[in-house]
Amino acid sequence: NKRVLTGITTTGTPHLGNYVGAIKPAVVASRDAATDSFYFLADYHALVKCEDPARVQQSTLEIAATWLALGLDTSRSVFYRQSDITEIPELTWLLTCVTAKGLMNRAHAYKAAVDDNVGASDDPDYGITMGLFCYPVLMAADILMFNANIVPVGKDQIQHLEMARDIAQRFNHRYGEHFVLPEAQVDEHVATLPGTDGRKMSKSYDNTIPLWLPEKKLRKAIMKIKTNSQEPGEPKDPDKAAVYSVYAAFASERQRGEMRQAFADGIAWGEVKQQLFQLINAELEGPRERYEALINNPHKVEQELERGAEKARELSRPFIAELREAVGIRSLG
Ligand code: TYM
Repeated sequence: NKRVLTGITTTGTPHLGNYVGAIKPAVVASRDAATDSFYFLADYHALVKCEDPARVQQSTLEIAATWLALGLDTSRSVFYRQSDITEIPELTWLLTCVTAKGLMNRAHAYKAAVDDNVGASDDPDYGITMGLFCYPVLMAADILMFNANIVPVGKDQIQHLEMARDIAQRFNHRYGEHFVLPEAQVDEHVATLPGTDGRKMSKSYDNTIPLWLPEKKLRKAIMKIKTNSQEPGEPKDPDKAAVYSVYAAFASERQRGEMRQAFADGIAWGEVKQQLFQLINAELEGPRERYEALINNPHKVEQELERGAEKARELSRPFIAELREAVGIRSLG
């Protein structure tokens, strides 16, 4: 069986971008009998971006409840919290020792942080932690720990996948073939879901639409998506409209075709948004109720995570023993 694996950082509240880019395809894949799926909450990754313990904790609960509410079948998949798998930070160190520093220098997130310092500080690395710098190594460990073949992610994570392959290759080259080379899987329709301002939906741009907004607030948030000043009756270009991109991520093939025609016929922006709201709300109504129930029952969520960690560690324990052996860390007799 092919192994599919993906994770989500536990900072903040899940938004529509996380949903269409990661969670929804993952839940669908988890039902496929020909794949073994691994889904996890990247709480060690959260520490890179968030220094507020209460927030990391709350976000872990919200994101776990989100996966469960959306129908993840935990009897057919392995659903766990990264920090419960103590072999992951152990593997991170083994990988760190074969990772070229130059590779990390090229990471987008690190380069962006350096660029932010230009003009603001004499030190290009001012305020940058080793956590941020080494982030891709921890991510490689997440993936390689379970020898995942396929990693469904948004476009922003493609570079991290290339780095994971590079790191795996170096390790294999030095110590023998232990790792399979993972591949990123990016859905073209949802590669980057735009936010309310048209840029990529992201917490750092403050343009997200949270997944679990109550109906009225969801409608309001959708009405705020930026559009141009074209009037009703004027033909509009769907490929230049953030509302259409969001619509396309939720719609069926047929609905997409009909909406493109409506754009050509000059549909009013308010009408597009109304249809978009109905589409999203219909999809999320049922899960929203399940989500509320789970958020109010953290114990149930915790039980699921503990069960998942047990399953995951049945694999990670023997594998880390094999890797320690390979690098020469073993019993002396
Ligand atoms: P994170 O937590 O930022 O995002 C989780 C997933 O959601 C996708 N995503 C989007 N997709 C489409 N449109 C958007 N606007 C959008 N915003 C976010 C992301 O691409 C991602 O797939 N480093 C990862 C978490 C991680 C991970 C891993 C992923 C840690 N270890 C191992 C895969 C495998 C991250 O920060 O994702």
